Amino acid sequence: MAVYFQEDKKIFHLDTKNTTYLIGMTPEGYIGHIYYGRRLYQEADSYLLRTAEAPFTPSVNKREKLSFLDSFPMEYPTGGIGDYRESCLNVRNPKGQMGSELLYLSHEIYPGKKKLEGLPASFGAEEEVETLEITLEDKILGLQAVLSWSVFEKEDMIARSVRIVNQGKDALKLEKVYSACLDMDNEDYEMINLCGSWARERHIQRAPLRYGKQAVSSFRGESSHQEHPFMALVSPGTDQQQGQVYAMHFVYSGNFLAQAELTQYDSVRMVMGIHTEEFCWNLLPGESFQAPEVILTYSGQGLGMMSRNFHDFYRDHMIRSIYNHKKRPILINNWEATYFDFDTEKLLQIAREAKKCGIEMLVMDDGWFGRRNVDDNSLGDWTVNEEKIKGGLKYLVDQVNEIGLAFGIWFEPEMVSPDSDLYRAHPDWAIQIEGREAAMGRNQYVLDLSRRDVVDYVYEAVAKILRSANICYVKWDMNRLLSDLGSSFLDAEHQKELSHRYVLGLYELQERLVTEFPELLLENCSSGGARFDPGMLYYSPQIWCSDDTDAIERLLIQEGTGFIYPLSTMGAHVSDCPNHILGRVTPFETRGHIALAGTFGYELDITKIPQEQRQMICEQTKMYHAYNDLVREGDYYRIASYRENHKYDVWAVASKDKQEVLVTYVQVLAEPNKHSRKLRLQGFDPDASYRLTGTEQVYSGEMLMYAGFLIECMKGDFVSRLYHFEKIQAEDKCL
Ligand code: DGJ
Repeated sequence: MAVYFQEDKKIFHLDTKNTTYLIGMTPEGYIGHIYYGRRLYQEADSYLLRTAEAPFTPSVNKREKLSFLDSFPMEYPTGGIGDYRESCLNVRNPKGQMGSELLYLSHEIYPGKKKLEGLPASFGAEEEVETLEITLEDKILGLQAVLSWSVFEKEDMIARSVRIVNQGKDALKLEKVYSACLDMDNEDYEMINLCGSWARERHIQRAPLRYGKQAVSSFRGESSHQEHPFMALVSPGTDQQQGQVYAMHFVYSGNFLAQAELTQYDSVRMVMGIHTEEFCWNLLPGESFQAPEVILTYSGQGLGMMSRNFHDFYRDHMIRSIYNHKKRPILINNWEATYFDFDTEKLLQIAREAKKCGIEMLVMDDGWFGRRNVDDNSLGDWTVNEEKIKGGLKYLVDQVNEIGLAFGIWFEPEMVSPDSDLYRAHPDWAIQIEGREAAMGRNQYVLDLSRRDVVDYVYEAVAKILRSANICYVKWDMNRLLSDLGSSFLDAEHQKELSHRYVLGLYELQERLVTEFPELLLENCSSGGARFDPGMLYYSPQIWCSDDTDAIERLLIQEGTGFIYPLSTMGAHVSDCPNHILGRVTPFETRGHIALAGTFGYELDITKIPQEQRQMICEQTKMYHAYNDLVREGDYYRIASYRENHKYDVWAVASKDKQEVLVTYVQVLAEPNKHSRKLRLQGFDPDASYRLTGTEQVYSGEMLMYAGFLIECMKGDFVSRLYHFEKIQAEDKCL
């Protein structure tokens, strides 16, 4: 039993394999946080709630209620009544006054987990997850908050969310509804987050907590290149194998805030939710508002365990696609090969050459529709440009299929070009402020997905193309941020709902898509990796990591992405050199080894590259088939980080049964008079022996992990090597 209520002390126990989370209650019904950390096996005591020491609880010491509210470890703090730390819920009454106070009303514990209406969320069968729902109430407002904790015992994960219900007679304004709060004592925590920019997404950043608030956020309308809806607090000295880690990740693709606040009493409040900038939800009597989910995990064994917890959890309880656990076709995408300059014949030439090298799918990127030869027109006009795609789309797809490749296509469904038939017919479908010229991004506007007619149009436009030919894959792109937040559909009262309604519209579109085309392989993308988040993973099993395909920059991007996300989700391709963004030249082999740690594919003009590189593609596609099962399904171990040492990068993937381990070593910088490097590997069975594939060398797992493995340094920068170890069966050993 993962969840139980200790009636005498009024304490809720949430147990997973290695962790315990305890929630307490004061006599008045305030719900407080007692503990989160390593698994506890005994009954708990409410003294940990600290209600027995000054400032006491309000029923005992009414004159100091403010002090109580500002120091009590709240599970879900409200704003306006005296808790001056960051609140999770701000409600304004019809008189325009802001304040709410939530006290216990009831609770329910049930097997399984309910769906979150209109939102992506984790899922699990009744035997895999158990849910605690505590209903809190503000009698004066007639408002209820249903807090839920879904406990995934095996995975050490807790999924938290909140539903706000208006049970009263008056319309209320929800000015802030965050999804989770964690109030803990500070233990000199450091904060880890992911940050970056276009073409350098999700770099890992770490710094000690200071007094006050430290936040990462986005109000760009998407989870963003710049900051990521993730935050971890770690004890000092935490590394891959040891230390305490508290991590939160937001299952949402729009505006967010993730914040840690170190308070005057040396407590830390972590909160996560939809950003309050441009958010306000009108809640009429009888209505409810569902806040998105936060995934919470604790690891007492460092960052490596945190990563593996997230990987397993997302693979088993977030990604729904039938491709989740399947090998994906090796694709070749024509974007970096041709940009907008292609036609049927060019694509068929690429397909023919690709087939010879073992590539399995051709993806036609931007530029196949309307009059699109540059990026300033036609978004929204999803009709095939038959001047380029001579013979039509079906002809092209059939020809590609005949060559022996599957076919995939690019869309950017959420956008409209000012120079498009769609915009000329429906200028009011674009998000814009009346009387003000909206700012363009990449020459385009954003469609108002809060409108049903727009969502229906967009869906039909995409679906019609997919119904017209044998299309197996869609790359769903999104190339600008939201600005000029005005909707011609929403009235003044509801304008601040636009950003969230936009995300709900997006989710509805993708839900309809995967329902009508369950066998479609969907890859999300946003100017590279600006919308790489668990919300999108619910719809697509893979997301394009970054427009930056340079192998060395990818080390940083993929380290940060793999810090939370399974390698099977990371869109990674081998591209041409000099790299189109950085101008860097790296060996073809290294580019292959680094792309192997993701979905794997190509993004180059295969008809133009030298013959020896084509030969290498033949070898790399074989390499993909040899190792993808392991990379996709295995346990990921970060051995060394180029981000930290500035010289080399090493990671390993071990099969769950520890039968095989693949180690990737990338030497970024050659060093004089350095002949070898001894590295302690991870992921092996210490009691087993392993053979290094392709050699007769045998190593003990224990030695590899604790004494180390000797890697010979190579000549040159940017060079890499794979080391594949196979467990020796007992009989082999005797021989
Ligand atoms: C941005 C994407 O990240 C690229 O891969 C490519 O699809 C372009 N958009 C096309 O416009």
